[in-house]
Amino acid sequence: MVVEMPARAGAVPEERVARPGRRAGAHQRTPGRPPSGVPRAVRWSLGAVALACTLCIVVFGSVVAVRAPVWAPIDEGAHFSYVQQIAEHGSLPVLGSLVSEQVQALADGTYPRLVPVTTKHLWLGSYSYEAFQPPLAYAVDVPAFYLSGNYHTKVVLLRLFDLLLLVVTVGLYVRLCRLVLGDRWLYGLAPALVVLALPGMVVRCVTVSNLPLEMVLVTACVTELWLALHRSSPARLCTAGVLVGLGLLTDLFSLGLVPLWLAVAAVFVGFGVLYSGVVDVGADDPHAALTRWLLHPGMRRSVQQHARGIRVPDLHDPAMIMAGFRHYREMCVGCHLAPGVAHSEIREGLTPRPPRLQRVVGHVPPAELFWIVKHGVKMTAMPAWGKSHSDDKLWAIVAFLEKLPGMTAAQYRQMDKAAGTGDGDEDASGKG
Ligand code: HEC
Repeated sequence: MVVEMPARAGAVPEERVARPGRRAGAHQRTPGRPPSGVPRAVRWSLGAVALACTLCIVVFGSVVAVRAPVWAPIDEGAHFSYVQQIAEHGSLPVLGSLVSEQVQALADGTYPRLVPVTTKHLWLGSYSYEAFQPPLAYAVDVPAFYLSGNYHTKVVLLRLFDLLLLVVTVGLYVRLCRLVLGDRWLYGLAPALVVLALPGMVVRCVTVSNLPLEMVLVTACVTELWLALHRSSPARLCTAGVLVGLGLLTDLFSLGLVPLWLAVAAVFVGFGVLYSGVVDVGADDPHAALTRWLLHPGMRRSVQQHARGIRVPDLHDPAMIMAGFRHYREMCVGCHLAPGVAHSEIREGLTPRPPRLQRVVGHVPPAELFWIVKHGVKMTAMPAWGKSHSDDKLWAIVAFLEKLPGMTAAQYRQMDKAAGTGDGDEDASGKG
């Protein structure tokens, strides 16, 4: 039976610092249990901020839709021209063509009296310069355009439609925050809505343009990508792909979604390849260069991160080093060899091949050695010895490892003799 020894004064148990609580299942809370982690006062305050911002968006957005001057600087007229071109001519505008008479008359304040647009009284907005944009948002605006015959009213109707899309975006934000942050969703939502409710944002989103539809599509796409990863759902990935396509048909700037989608798709392809069975998992098939390159530096960084804060006890006590030697001879030589021990049967067949520790340990700080020996290394043959050994015994092993670099075969044999035949695990073997 293995008896865990009480930690000695110098040896500080590694897991002294409580690990930050895992938030597993934050969003699948049991019904009836109050949301955890968020104090009531904070919840109420954030909720109030989110609600106030939403009200602000709706009220101020309505005022903007009805009362803001036509045209809002600088390109509302050009966006409206695009919609008008599709609605009245069934065609797309050409970059550089002039805006319609109605747009010009509204700009000049003479509407409903129309003035032929000539090159004489041109302003920046006289050109249909939004024609470089893809058509989806403008096509979606067409039904609202038809609702009235008066061009001023048409502008207000298109703005109200944009406000509706903005409210849909708020709803999508709520969904995204709840999915990603679980009980803490208000921490994400409140700041997001504060930004969305800034007067400049509301004016920009409500006046006629392709931006509101783009915001809906981008938010929906990010949500689907998150769900695709979280639920390993190819269907969600496809939905996200469709949304990327629609985004590209709405605004050229949605191009930013493409790398994001490709990154998630690459994860799926990786898992698909594994699942297909073509990967050879045989340990006699060496890792591909890419796998080695991914695994080893990844392992190094992980160990460095996790070993931070481990306090190293005094490792110079000869009795401790001798105890560590016994453990090493018992548990490690087979895989890691030793001075004068150049081969072992088990080591030949392992992938990755266990390194000769004599050559490695000089480059690895003792706290990291301790962490590796205690926790092992995933997907390799390196076991987690902490499952069966107390921290004291593991520190003794580290104390011995520190002596390995530079040790000769003769010195190792000498230690072997001095250690006698007792194996390393005194408690397990019942020997002193
Ligand atoms: C069954 C084989 C096996 C045994 C037994 C074993 N190890 Fe390992 N060990 C490995 C393998 C494989 C690796 C390489 C892991 C990697 O490539 O990331 C490794 C890695 C290590 C490393 C990290 C080396 C580096 O590159 O930083 C240390 C330290 C280590 N082992 C210590 C020990 C000690 C101490 C023992 C005995 C208590 C032990 N190992 C027992 C297989 C083994």
